[in-house]
Amino acid sequence: ISARSDMGNIILTGFMGTGKSSVGKELALRLNYRYIDLDALIVAEAGISINEIFTRDGETAFRAIEARLLSSLKGEENMVLSTGGGAVIAGENRRVLRELGMVINLVAPAEEILLRLRHEHDRPLLNNDKSLERIRALIAHREPFYADADVRIETCGKTVAGIVDEILIWLK
Ligand code: S3P
Repeated sequence: ISARSDMGNIILTGFMGTGKSSVGKELALRLNYRYIDLDALIVAEAGISINEIFTRDGETAFRAIEARLLSSLKGEENMVLSTGGGAVIAGENRRVLRELGMVINLVAPAEEILLRLRHEHDRPLLNNDKSLERIRALIAHREPFYADADVRIETCGKTVAGIVDEILIWLK
């Protein structure tokens, strides 16, 4: 399947550990689109890790950088963008995401997310409490924002290639 010139950007949203980066990279390869990771842009600009940004400057400062860098992508074309799990919370960000292109929300059950993130340490929102209850509470709070997508795709029990196939079929 080749890239369609009339297609806008593809934006991946979803909770931490739903596979946005792995799926985004593979999808970009398959479409011959550029892959951009919003968290990576933030880290590159700040010159420190996400944990360090949260510790040194706080979550509000992180959200401000996130919103600014997201806005700076307006005008991009042929891009697959994976966003951080909290990028959809701000209404202004959701407006920018929709303006940028097709919003695809990746979904996974809290139990699966806990498994996938058990060895990860650069998730400041889970560093102090990486429990099923904490993950469930965050997901519940964000659910209306994740639901504001063009399509939602369950990722549990599927391979990255399988998820990408599903997205490509849906885009046709
Ligand atoms: C966050 C998710 C992270 C990162 C930051 C905050 C969140 O991105 O942006 O730790 O609020 O859910 P990933 O979803 O890529 O882990």
